[in-house]
Amino acid sequence: MKKIDVLVIGAGAAGLMCAIEAGKRGRSVVIVDHSAKPAEKIRISGGGRCNFTNLHASPENFISQNKRFCVSALKRYTQFDFIDLVNRHDIAWHEKTLGQLFCDESSFQIIDMLLDECDAANVELRLNTEISNIIRRDDAGFDVTTRTGAQWTCQSLVVACGGLSIPKIGATGFGYQIARQFGIDIVPTRAALVPLTFDPDMRADLGQLSGISVDAIVQCHKKQFREGLLFTHRGLSGPSILQISSYWDEGDAITVNLNPEEDAFDLLKSAKAESPKQAVHNVLSRILPNRLAQMITARHGLDRPIGETGDKALRLLATDVNQWSVMPQGSEGYRTAEVTLGGVDTNALSSKTMECRDVPGLYFIGEVVDVTGHLGGFNFQWAWSSGWSAGQVV
Ligand code: FDA
Repeated sequence: MKKIDVLVIGAGAAGLMCAIEAGKRGRSVVIVDHSAKPAEKIRISGGGRCNFTNLHASPENFISQNKRFCVSALKRYTQFDFIDLVNRHDIAWHEKTLGQLFCDESSFQIIDMLLDECDAANVELRLNTEISNIIRRDDAGFDVTTRTGAQWTCQSLVVACGGLSIPKIGATGFGYQIARQFGIDIVPTRAALVPLTFDPDMRADLGQLSGISVDAIVQCHKKQFREGLLFTHRGLSGPSILQISSYWDEGDAITVNLNPEEDAFDLLKSAKAESPKQAVHNVLSRILPNRLAQMITARHGLDRPIGETGDKALRLLATDVNQWSVMPQGSEGYRTAEVTLGGVDTNALSSKTMECRDVPGLYFIGEVVDVTGHLGGFNFQWAWSSGWSAGQVV
């Protein structure tokens, strides 16, 4: 049984940040991961360039049963603190859109930076390591055993196992299992930042639009996002759809404005007056991609020239452009989701330190906690902020 100060489970964004901070304070830290490589999600993030934070990160960008929970950590370790760290490591970056910051070169630079910081802080990293048993000691701290029989006694145990999305690269529900072991509630989890799917009929109908993208406003439960929307073979994707998926539940319709810049009815009315011989889809294709314009017009059965098409029919058509009501059948699920909504109930945790109120020495950080960011670098910022906050006290 080796005695250490801190054992961190999960060498992802949050776990590495916490380990670095604890190591810098002189604590003896071991970080374990069951995967063969650390930080696999950082590697695949942002299309390989890691959208590592967002200039505009603030509590409004996060979803949680307790909206205020994230405030303290986000204030104590901000996006600008992380940008300083990136700058200190001479990693070139750029703002892509909406405050989203990406590496110019590769997400490996962020991983290397974190691993270098771990080295400098004397953090011991153990990969291919699965935990088989955790026991809380009577005096204080925890006894932790691995499947291969290694044992540690630690004062602080930090759970940074992430969420359920992308099991293929190592996501498990282990963090939730540990929470349950210690009587901590879990806010029900579901896939978020995920493409939405159509039922088979809609798929047969709209699947042919696959590959078309538009700038759209997508709305559900009074929440709306204006970003790109992409038609896929199975349904809808693109940033606006990923964003709204975090607010969408099975059985909900979403409303899509396929061209926020134009009122389709105004356009159709004036085209009818000015050039009545034009085909309706030709008029629509002035504001929508041609294939999409043809499909929407065909669905309304409007194959006469616009001058012979009644205003009522044009209004219905325009509604499908500016207020298209879609009922997704489901989502692509954890297989492709970027994050997991829900998780460890924040009521059980201190918002300043991430320590469990009823289990001193036990901490939960990062995505395993019921704090989920919007798309755009916010989830990593939560991982950095919550990891840093725990790292000051473990
Ligand atoms: P994370 O998942 O990073 O780390 C958890 C670690 O725990 C993993 O290394 C895992 O192997 C390990 N683990 C799991 N079970 C274990 C067990 N039983 N025993 C030991 N170890 C275990 N966010 C963002 O802000 N910007 C972006 O660009 C992107 N892009 C992106 C792309 C894709 C494809 C995905 C899937 C996700 C994103 N995200 C993102 C989200 C972001 O990756 C995510 O929110 C953070 O990685 C969460 O950090 P954590 O450290 O909490 O978990």
